[in-house]
Amino acid sequence: MLLTQTQLDAFDREGYLFFPGLFSLEEIKVLLDEVPALYAQRRPENVREKTGDVVRTNFAAHLYSAPFARLARHPRMVEPVRQMFGEDLYMHQFKINGKQAFDGDVWQWHQDYGTWKNDDQMPEPRAMNVAIFLDGVNEFNGPLMFIPGSHKLGVLDAQHDTSTTSYPLWTINNEVIGKLVERGGIVAPKGPAGSMILFHSCLVHASSSNLSPWNRVSVYLSLCAVSNHIRRFKRPDYIAHRDFTPIECLPDDCLLKSYDVPLPWKDRFFEPLRETT
Ligand code: SIN
Ligand code: MN
Repeated sequence: MLLTQTQLDAFDREGYLFFPGLFSLEEIKVLLDEVPALYAQRRPENVREKTGDVVRTNFAAHLYSAPFARLARHPRMVEPVRQMFGEDLYMHQFKINGKQAFDGDVWQWHQDYGTWKNDDQMPEPRAMNVAIFLDGVNEFNGPLMFIPGSHKLGVLDAQHDTSTTSYPLWTINNEVIGKLVERGGIVAPKGPAGSMILFHSCLVHASSSNLSPWNRVSVYLSLCAVSNHIRRFKRPDYIAHRDFTPIECLPDDCLLKSYDVPLPWKDRFFEPLRETT
């Protein structure tokens, strides 16, 4: 799937592109059916909400779950990003955000590239954020919000917020957000399961809590140009990956057919079963 000049211009202006219903419900079911088993695992890649046992985000499932390993190589997602950067890509980060009914907590206003630059020493904002909806997203279940055009401002001042939620984040203060919104407004792309968003790594974004009875499970992943790989390995490898091997795409039907994929972390962090005698 390649982007038209009109789409490239819109991305440049707004900082994001929205593709409602890009994946079919049949394709998405293969992924969503896998999520409860992933969230049930006791492993550091599952970060839970502050209030209890509900999973907020699961990291790196593409390294231990076959359906997500196939999604990570999907040409409908990888090809447009490779087109934009004009080079091969590797997976910098891969997460499945729960935003579960009633329990899903906020993601404060932030830019992703600020963290990648400061913590991971990623040289340039040549990494693309991709969101894929595994549940329908509506105005009630905590849709992702963007300030259009904010990616043009580069990296903004941010403070390390370690208390609002269970996951530390470099966040932008309310006064700055007020000014940015005056200039660009706020949009929140909503649509059926299977929709995809591509958004610039400097685009300011956030989402509010999910007080609705509907889960809002979404995959968020970041595809980085290989030559722009991170230089510092300060954060855990399941949050900022160190394998810069270029992604090789599978065929377009890879969510519906069982193509072979490597699962290098399948047994990672699991205690081997011991005989009880
Ligand atoms: C993120 O910014 O990484 C996640 C936002 C969300 O899940 O709403
Ligand atoms: Mn983010």
